[in-house]
Amino acid sequence: DKDPRIHGIQTKIRVVPDFPKQGIMFQDITTLLLDPKAFKDTIDLFVERYKGKNISVVAGIEARGFIFGPPIALAIGAKFVPLRKPKKLPGKVISEEYILEYGRDCLEMHVGAVEAGERALVVDDLIATGGTLCAAMNLLERVGAEVVECACVIELPDLKGRERLNGKPLYVLVESH
Ligand code: PRP
Repeated sequence: DKDPRIHGIQTKIRVVPDFPKQGIMFQDITTLLLDPKAFKDTIDLFVERYKGKNISVVAGIEARGFIFGPPIALAIGAKFVPLRKPKKLPGKVISEEYILEYGRDCLEMHVGAVEAGERALVVDDLIATGGTLCAAMNLLERVGAEVVECACVIELPDLKGRERLNGKPLYVLVESH
């Protein structure tokens, strides 16, 4: 039942032990980007899932959601909205803080970029604890948008991030243990 393109995508993701610190198995998607077939397959799988679903906004999470989000947005005829780390956006913003393993971080979205009633897709490269996606969804829901789904290339299911998404559907291409 699994799409045959998935395996090719999985083999192009490089796992780097102990980066950026001891004990972390870093999922490096830059090697996927180096392979035009695997990169295109990644985008195509998302586009096939979301085209015709009346999605008007693709929200991409800094930084790697900025790589996968825009080609999906263009292909399904949606606008692209960047959700950025603090103090990067020049206009009026709304902010959502979230907890990291050590400390906290924050995502911001321009006020007026998304209107009430819009149907949104949230895109990132990876879900670990789910805190980042949760903050992204909160931003969109605060302005009255409907988050249709979250989409990631990679899930680390052992971290149970899915459970933090309040039942919102999450679609991933590859699981890594
Ligand atoms: C990584 C990844 C996700 C987030 C997932 O980003 O690209 O955005 O972590 O983690 P979570 O599910 O535990 O919240 P990172 O924090 O490395 O930031 P960067 O993309 O700016 O490097």
